[in-house]
Amino acid sequence: MARGWTSGWIRALGASRWFFFAMLASCTGGAKVSSGGADAGGVPEPATLSAAAALGEEIFHDRSLSASGTLSCSSCHVPDHALAGGDGLAVPLGGADGTRQGLRNAPSLRYVLYTPSFHFESDGTPVGGFDRDGRAVSLRDQARGPFLADFEMANADAAAVSRRLAAAGYADEFRAQFGEHIFEDPAAALDRALFAVQQYEIEDRQEFEPFTSKYDYFLAGKVTLSESEARGLSLFNDPNKGNCAACHPSAVGADGSPPMFTDFTYDNLGVPRNASIAANADPGYYDLGACGPLRTDIAEHTELCGAFKVPTLRNIALTAPYFHNGQFATLERALEFYVRRDTHPEEFYPRGEGGQVRKFDDLPPAYQVNVNRTEAPYNRLPGDVPALDAAEIADVISFLDTLTDGFQP
Ligand code: HEC
Ligand code: HEC
Repeated sequence: MARGWTSGWIRALGASRWFFFAMLASCTGGAKVSSGGADAGGVPEPATLSAAAALGEEIFHDRSLSASGTLSCSSCHVPDHALAGGDGLAVPLGGADGTRQGLRNAPSLRYVLYTPSFHFESDGTPVGGFDRDGRAVSLRDQARGPFLADFEMANADAAAVSRRLAAAGYADEFRAQFGEHIFEDPAAALDRALFAVQQYEIEDRQEFEPFTSKYDYFLAGKVTLSESEARGLSLFNDPNKGNCAACHPSAVGADGSPPMFTDFTYDNLGVPRNASIAANADPGYYDLGACGPLRTDIAEHTELCGAFKVPTLRNIALTAPYFHNGQFATLERALEFYVRRDTHPEEFYPRGEGGQVRKFDDLPPAYQVNVNRTEAPYNRLPGDVPALDAAEIADVISFLDTLTDGFQP
């Protein structure tokens, strides 16, 4: 079955978008490249936003749409941090008084529009969906969550959002687009706001899909990688070393599509429990990703308990801390976890009363079998040599640094 690119609503974006990229990528250099927009990659020209998308942009940045008056989408999806959290916190603060901790680290929204709809492939592999557990079926559906979640923008209901929209500076524009009486039907008003935000996320290519990383220019044959970056790329791809590309693909697709650095599948890495998240003070609480508690529709798939969607690694240097619970503050620490989790588990997990290392301490015992222990780099045992040494980790990080947008060739 077709994967990622060609499945779901994403087809509507048009495969021809990649023709330009494919041409560049197959050139051996010296190609005449049109300037304007991102000339490294897939986005040819600066986008002109539709009226709905322009309204969506205002909504995205409007703090008055939250109960606290201090929180907008862009408070947690900060432009300077590739639209991920910018405060360095493991999980963001929100709620009516702005002090309630959320449950998960805020992901980058760059390239999120390429996420296929959630589905199981013919071999049973879960793919796609929005949020880290894939529970939202579209960007429009996803945006409802933060408006109403009591630990995020904390609107009590659609009527509260509608009242705030009606008081905003763009209320007349909202009426002009969606009807003079739109605010008399709060459910419809909220729905139109979600639609506008979605259009912004899809249409503003400069913000949501610039494709201006050094690596994009490298794929287009316009720059070379440094020795360390090139070593890092081969370690990243090598199935016996990092094996990162097995889940975070780094190559141009057969259709010329640029690599997303995620295959949008799910995996259970056994990330340690983060004691700084208030919800984790309850020893009975576990964030099990695809099987709950935030997601409820596939809870019977207990093999997915603890599985989270593979995130993109584009702009990863800007989006610390890392993993669904923000457990690791630096890329170095995140990579050490990958390669030393099984050889040196005591470096990552707490010890129990008897002194034994409590490996996979953020999963109930019954679900610890779900952790991936077969694929490199986590197919080792204590006493084995880690898949990457410190110098190799440094090279992989140099390579990951080439995935940051805004590179000036
Ligand atoms: C308080 C911080 C906060 C606010 C405010 C917020 N978000 Fe998020 N956002 C998050 C977190 C945390 C997640 C991950 C949620 C999960 O996995 O359950 C997320 C996930 C997302 C995703 C899914 C990304 C993916 O990879 O699937 C999108 C899209 C998104 N947010 C858009 C928005 C929009 C649009 C708004 C405003 C209406 C918004 N967010 C407001 C914190 C926030
Ligand atoms: C078998 C699939 C798989 C492989 C192989 C893999 N990853 Fe991941 N990666 C994931 C998943 C799933 C997550 C999200 C896990 C979570 O949040 O709990 C992730 C998350 C990450 C993150 C954190 C991203 C963020 O936004 O917080 C980084 C960094 C990362 N991977 C880098 C790498 C590197 C470097 C390699 C190779 C050494 C690698 N990954 C190999 C599946 C994989």
